[in-house]
Amino acid sequence: MTRRIGISTGGGDCPALNAAIRAVVLRAHALGIEVVGIEDGLSGLLAGTGAGTRTLAPADVEDLVGEGGTILGTTNRGNPLAFSGPDGAVVDRGDEVVAAARGLGLEGIVLAGGDGTQAIGLALMARGLPVVGLPKTIDNDLAHTHTTFGFATAVAVATEALDRLRTTAESHARIMVLEVMGRSAGWIALEAGIAGGAHAILIPEIPYDPVVVAEAVGRRGGRRSFSLVVVAEGAHPPGEAPPRHVWPGGRGRAALGGAGMRCAALLAEHLPDREIRVTVLGHVQRGGTPTAFDRLLATRLGAEAAQAAHEGDWGTLMSWDPPVVRRIPLDPSIRTPRRVDPDSQLVRHAESLGICLGRPPAPTPASMPE
Ligand code: F6P
Repeated sequence: MTRRIGISTGGGDCPALNAAIRAVVLRAHALGIEVVGIEDGLSGLLAGTGAGTRTLAPADVEDLVGEGGTILGTTNRGNPLAFSGPDGAVVDRGDEVVAAARGLGLEGIVLAGGDGTQAIGLALMARGLPVVGLPKTIDNDLAHTHTTFGFATAVAVATEALDRLRTTAESHARIMVLEVMGRSAGWIALEAGIAGGAHAILIPEIPYDPVVVAEAVGRRGGRRSFSLVVVAEGAHPPGEAPPRHVWPGGRGRAALGGAGMRCAALLAEHLPDREIRVTVLGHVQRGGTPTAFDRLLATRLGAEAAQAAHEGDWGTLMSWDPPVVRRIPLDPSIRTPRRVDPDSQLVRHAESLGICLGRPPAPTPASMPE
């Protein structure tokens, strides 16, 4: 009898999802296992959603290693356990997913996703659908893995944006605010900010004091009085929620957006004579060609996921623990995002170089925390 597994990509997309799909298919095929691609998250297993399933042969995936997006499509609105029907009613269709997977003869499903998708996988596992998790998200906020694929590309894109903003900022002696993604974790802002030579980096984990930020950027005088401020979309001053924005369409759902503009407005109160401009990088960070690191990481995680499925090692997350991929049990702690530790060495290194993190810097210790 043909052995068969499914693969699905859930939540917001990110660079290198296709590299992961490719690796799962190539490795599974080598092990004599057929792979069925499930479209639009798990919606392809739900009749009436317009999505479906299709067998993926090596020829379908072999050229995908550097392609952005996901050939399977994805959605962050397709949770089968709380599925929104066209009439707006929310229904639990988890059992339908499990039955459809069984009907296709799938031994289990490889689920590429962030915390939301992995939590769905855990719930489906409890209902009898074996899953293996692949950690992806540009936010890098998934627990139990050093890095998620997609993150390195987002950092590279945001760093390039800072390089470009730097030259025009300097020409006009302006303060340039760059809003980047990062809902509850400031990894993109922090790493791109350091790599791009930002003067202030504001992250959700450290509520920022506008007076401290204004002083830090206002203090830069003379020819080099320009400043670069990176703001994660989830960053906010104490006591304020991060701003949300209602995009056109999509039944008027609000999403994070506006943290950069809010920061600029607060800075302007303290620096009324300075010109401030805001750039929102948005989905540019999620699209396009993955970096070599992301391709490599996604490929290794995908190969290991196929191997785990072959061995029947279900209920595991493929975790990047440099220099190896480990299989760790998928458990409820996966729901808690991995956030930046405000006292970490990474943050202290930034502050030790004079980068403002929105708080009065602690005196640099003689030795850094590890
Ligand atoms: O979780 C990844 C992410 O890119 C977040 O950084 C961001 O808040 C969110 O997705 C945006 O989602 P959407 O594409 O639905 O606007």
